[in-house]
Amino acid sequence: MTLSGKHILLGISGGIAAYKASDLTRRLRDAGAEVRVVMTEGATHFITPLTLQALSGHPVRVSLWDEEHEAAMGHIELARWADAILIAPASADLMARLAAGMANDLLTTLCLACEAPMFLAPAMNRVMWAHPATRANAATLQERGATLLGPGAGSQACGETGEGRMLEPLDLVEHLHKHFSIGPLAGKKVVITAGPTREAIDPVRYISNRSSGRMGYALAEAARNAGAEVVLVSGPTALPAPAGVQRIDVESALAMREAVMQALPCDLFIGTAAVADYRAAVIAPGKIKKASDTLAIELVKNPDILAEVAARPDRPFTVGFAAETDHLLDHARDKLVRKHLDMIAANRVGEGLAFDQPDNALTVLWRDGIKELPQADKRVLARQLIELIADRVHDHA
Ligand code: PMT
Repeated sequence: MTLSGKHILLGISGGIAAYKASDLTRRLRDAGAEVRVVMTEGATHFITPLTLQALSGHPVRVSLWDEEHEAAMGHIELARWADAILIAPASADLMARLAAGMANDLLTTLCLACEAPMFLAPAMNRVMWAHPATRANAATLQERGATLLGPGAGSQACGETGEGRMLEPLDLVEHLHKHFSIGPLAGKKVVITAGPTREAIDPVRYISNRSSGRMGYALAEAARNAGAEVVLVSGPTALPAPAGVQRIDVESALAMREAVMQALPCDLFIGTAAVADYRAAVIAPGKIKKASDTLAIELVKNPDILAEVAARPDRPFTVGFAAETDHLLDHARDKLVRKHLDMIAANRVGEGLAFDQPDNALTVLWRDGIKELPQADKRVLARQLIELIADRVHDHA
């Protein structure tokens, strides 16, 4: 399906074309998208939230001040959730408020808080569309990166004929499909490791770390949104796989290595997993008894998956992570060179930092460059990191 797993925030503003939003919701879902609907007050005069709730499978939001909805999924969370915002119909009033940067209802607030691409399907009377105020607002929104889909020309609900009709739902779905399929990683195969590994010491105990998998899963989602085919090799986590991503579950570093090698060749490899550096030399066949006051477990080094991928003759563009408590940049630079990586994302770790946190901050290094990605939600950082990678991966021989 063309929009498989994509999160589409469908904004509906007040205009007669709002009735087409029910068909649009159904078409988006048929194409595989997950749809959350936000309506302006005006839109509810043309179509009921209940209709769109039934069609989208999720409660529809109208007000910024709805405590129940805010508790279930706050508006900032909803803004982060979206892979794209589609506003259909986009009325003259809504476009004016967006152009002015207003946040006086839920939909305009979400648009300001959202970093995902925005698509507007204008729909209004032909004279309103031709008005210099509307044209100036449309131009302002385009300059800021919004994409206008339509309007089309033809007979209008007001009885006139001209430009101002909302594009048909299938045409809008097709535009979104084009957007996602020409992403910067379209046609690329990406393998990503995520989460911790567990190194057994006996049948019931293991050595592991605090990685939740969030950073790696966010990267898998961002790479998928950039058009890539994504294989996610994951240690044990409590996270659902992003839709449209092939997830391979593993436990130990040795199993992760095996799964990664099976998944190769690929165009891009990102090692986000917190792979245990050591494993027990011998896994006790039975549960170890507490027979003495101290217990020594001999550990042996695990293979370095990242370095092994980077050393292959058919090496992909290889991106590592560096998790450091101190001398962040020195250690990261050392890993970049020693493991022959194309890029490394360094993050400071320690109490309340990076591991098992919703936020992170990264310093990204490559041979002749550096970029700070300041503290943000991991999904936001993942998008930024994928953009940085995409700018360079095409030059990779
Ligand atoms: O999962 P989260 O809770 O979201 O937390 C994210 C994170 C902190 C785990 C992530 O941002 C991160 O830093 N991942 C790398 C953790 C790590 O093991 O760093 P390292 O500096 O020890 O390893 C350097 C690189 O070598 C990493 O890309 C690692 O995946 C790789 N490696 C390490 C050892 C090994 N045996 N094989 C490897 O491939």
